[in-house]
Amino acid sequence: METTQSSKSFEQEIERLIQISKDKPLLPESFIPWATELEDHFELMPKTLLSLYGHELFNKMTSEQKRELARAEIAQVMYSYAWSEELACLFFFRYVSSLENITSAECRYVLKEAEEECRHMQMFSMAVKKLNVDPLPPRRLHRFAAWFATRFLPSDIMFMSVLGIELVTDVYGTELRQQPNIYPVLAKISQLHNIEEGRHIHFTELLLKRYTEKAGLFRRSVYSIVVCLNIYFMRTMYVRKEIFRKIGLDPNIYYKPAYAGLKQKFSEHCLERATEFVGQWNGFNWFTRIIWRKLLKAKV
Ligand SMILES: [Fe+2]
Ligand SMILES: [Fe+2]
Repeated sequence: METTQSSKSFEQEIERLIQISKDKPLLPESFIPWATELEDHFELMPKTLLSLYGHELFNKMTSEQKRELARAEIAQVMYSYAWSEELACLFFFRYVSSLENITSAECRYVLKEAEEECRHMQMFSMAVKKLNVDPLPPRRLHRFAAWFATRFLPSDIMFMSVLGIELVTDVYGTELRQQPNIYPVLAKISQLHNIEEGRHIHFTELLLKRYTEKAGLFRRSVYSIVVCLNIYFMRTMYVRKEIFRKIGLDPNIYYKPAYAGLKQKFSEHCLERATEFVGQWNGFNWFTRIIWRKLLKAKV
């Protein structure tokens, strides 16, 4: 009886989300001020997330190099968003094709989410074009992990992965919008993404309850590590040796401090929502805490 009641309210809530998506679709073509030229006085990255900002090496760089670093890093961020959403869609289609009832609210919402992600991917690729920089593709290990996950990992793990990344991109978008004088194209992209991802996050949290409520210690540990690994996976796409080479800096000197700098900044600014989510279903224990601290410097 209780299950029927909760599945009924789940359906009703999902119908509500579908209705908002239908009534208020946000189209990147009209929502983003694409005609705004990328002028030098605009900021491209929030200082709170620019890898080397605050390090003594940063002060030795020319203003041109600082700008190129910000441009390259924000392009990596936009590229990785587009790529991770492509992977999410690969999984969504796999999931939907496994459902027998294609008229259920859940099925229709996943399709709606895929539709919105398709628009986001185009938006991010247009942003990279606007930034006028060639982003670096994912490394071989990232590609292998993506191929394996989208084909073989079970649905609960995949929804957990999607949510882990969405929680971080959401916070990232908020940081970006808070940076004074940020390039308006990037600000509006983040605003659009914040709004639509808010609904995706809400849906996935509701859907995952059916798994986390029944999960024992082992399962909760697995979920916790999955969220942690996905955030790690995402973060390690942003700082790359090749970026320093391209802007005329020695990667042997600059790469390590930049990597450590972003790790620290990520820990300070990007993990709150994800750790709160994991904490809700007791995903932290002595073992998972070690992994979160080691990989993400998380304060858990
Ligand atoms: Fe998205
Ligand atoms: Fe999403």
